[in-house]
Amino acid sequence: MAIEPRERLIVALDLSSIEAAQALVTKLGDAVSFYKIGYQLAFANRGLAYAQALAASGKRVFLDLKLHDIGNTVAQGVKSVARLGASFLTVHAYPQTMDAAVQAREAGLRILAVTVLTSYDDYDLKHAGYDATVKALVAGRAEQARVLGVDGLVCSPEEAATVRSIVGKDLVLVTPGIRPAGSQSGDQKRIMTPAAAIAAGADYLVVGRPIVAAPDPKAAAAAIIAEIAQQAAMEKQHA
Ligand code: C5P
Repeated sequence: MAIEPRERLIVALDLSSIEAAQALVTKLGDAVSFYKIGYQLAFANRGLAYAQALAASGKRVFLDLKLHDIGNTVAQGVKSVARLGASFLTVHAYPQTMDAAVQAREAGLRILAVTVLTSYDDYDLKHAGYDATVKALVAGRAEQARVLGVDGLVCSPEEAATVRSIVGKDLVLVTPGIRPAGSQSGDQKRIMTPAAAIAAGADYLVVGRPIVAAPDPKAAAAAIIAEIAQQAAMEKQHA
């Protein structure tokens, strides 16, 4: 079933205090329904309690904690995250880790796998002891994720079309690295506009600085949602 355009935008709460996060959430109001909380806010004072409160207030929460440990530890961690009321949780795409997370997840929580961190290139992989290119490793791990029943993958918009062809349409694809036309790219090297990322097969877009650092965050979010809606409507017409 098609996801509402407004629900396809996930705003990254990359802030160091829950007060700053709440101020932004208040400013965005009904314009935004989905938030990503990563290390920066989760490990800030009362960060996880804030994630729980945000979920209880009716927002959807993506906990980007990129878990990776022995299976039992991952499984127990996933159960605790499920109790916080989060909708999405990331784990690294290692078979044992994905399997443990999938087995331990509870209704309402989807497990997303991170294939290869986008800061890694072929040289970095070699340096880390891998005998594979980024492209081959992403493809192999995407296939393993599908076989293990993982709910979705986080990938760069550039990889989205390839990953989609490997995992089919049932897995959720979430892409960061989104920049509306004309905005600052910051440290993101592989970027796409919201419309292009949707066209490449992304279900959800993670957007941080173009909204968090905008003079008017609510207007910035609304413009991105409008772009998602326009692209989705066009695709529907051509379906
Ligand atoms: O500010 P910006 O839109 O670049 O934020 C993107 C968000 O997505 C950040 O929270 C960042 O950690 C996350 N992310 C990313 N690239 C990845 C994985 C996650 O930018 N490959």
